[in-house]
Amino acid sequence: MIKTVLVTGGAGYIGSQLVRILLNEGYFVKTIDNLKFGGDALIDLYTNPKFEFVKGDICQESDVRKALKNVDAVCHLAAIVSDPTCKAFPEEATKVNVEASILLHKIVQESDIKRFVFTSTCSNYGKMSDPNILLDESADLRPISHYAETKVAFEQYLLSQTNSTLCSTILRFSTVYGVSPRTRFDLTVNEFTRDVSVGKALQIYGEKFWRPYCHVYDLASAVALVLKSDEKLVKNEVFNVGDTKENYTKEMLTVEIKKVIPNMVVNFVSRDEDPRDYRVNCDKIQTKLGFRITKNVPDGIAEIHKLIQCGLIGDSFSAKYKNL
Ligand SMILES: NC(=O)c1ccc[n+]([C@@H]2O[C@H](COP(=O)([O-])OP(=O)(O)OC[C@H]3O[C@@H](n4cnc5c(N)ncnc54)[C@H](O)[C@@H]3O)[C@@H](O)[C@H]2O)c1
Repeated sequence: MIKTVLVTGGAGYIGSQLVRILLNEGYFVKTIDNLKFGGDALIDLYTNPKFEFVKGDICQESDVRKALKNVDAVCHLAAIVSDPTCKAFPEEATKVNVEASILLHKIVQESDIKRFVFTSTCSNYGKMSDPNILLDESADLRPISHYAETKVAFEQYLLSQTNSTLCSTILRFSTVYGVSPRTRFDLTVNEFTRDVSVGKALQIYGEKFWRPYCHVYDLASAVALVLKSDEKLVKNEVFNVGDTKENYTKEMLTVEIKKVIPNMVVNFVSRDEDPRDYRVNCDKIQTKLGFRITKNVPDGIAEIHKLIQCGLIGDSFSAKYKNL
């Protein structure tokens, strides 16, 4: 029986949403985060008797051991996130995303903890060899960034731990969008919609490149769903998370934004950057675990546009809304 869940990276974009879902489901929730982007996303939970915050670094064994006390399950989200951030800080990315993650998992294995859920990324697929094929979990991984290389490295470590009695699950997330307690505006749907909402012309490169997208609430819900699922269905399994119908090219995103903001200006430009190009099949998590998304990309565009228009967020270009 899982009563207490530790969320690493709980102050982040997806983690702060996950913490709330788990609290709503009745768990006692602990979080360890070194607050790279501040702790605002968790302040309202501070007085909740079922919530405990540990300010700590997952690279520090003593912090990890403190956070893992009296925990039944771990959702591991803490990471150096995004291609540009990992390119700018490659050593830190390897240290956090690979070395600290392995240490965390080793300490978890020594304990009575029953479940370990790791949030990986569909970026691991890199570039499709055949653009007509939707990539499922058995597809080759072709990481083309240091970020994806670190995620693949920890996936491979986890999948090599097959003798473990611990139930570990890998979730390969689609690119996230939507509003959370720590919304980020450095991700395609949010960034494009924010820019158009404030009247900026979009400069888009690689407009024909595909990517799968999923709302932050749905991604966080998938983590909670794995914790509730029968161990036989999730142990040592890999799931793409999203919906097979939610693959878009950047050009398709602009078509959806234009439906909400008709006077938008977009220029397609040529640049040798971010060649990630993959369409993903997310049927496994639907058929095996019954996962369903509750929002799609047009919903996310409308949500972000409304947030910018209503003025609640203040300066959406502030550094606190991006990772680099
Ligand atoms: N954002 C996406 O589109 C996306 C897609 C696929 C997978 N993911 C994965 O989901 C997870 C969460 O992503 P996010 O978008 O919420 O990122 P985020 O950057 O908003 O959150 C990461 C959190 O981890 C914390 N952190 C970083 N290093 C730490 C350390 N050494 N010790 C303790 N805490 C540390 C940060 O302070 C931050 O609060 C990551 O593992 C990421 O790789 C994200």
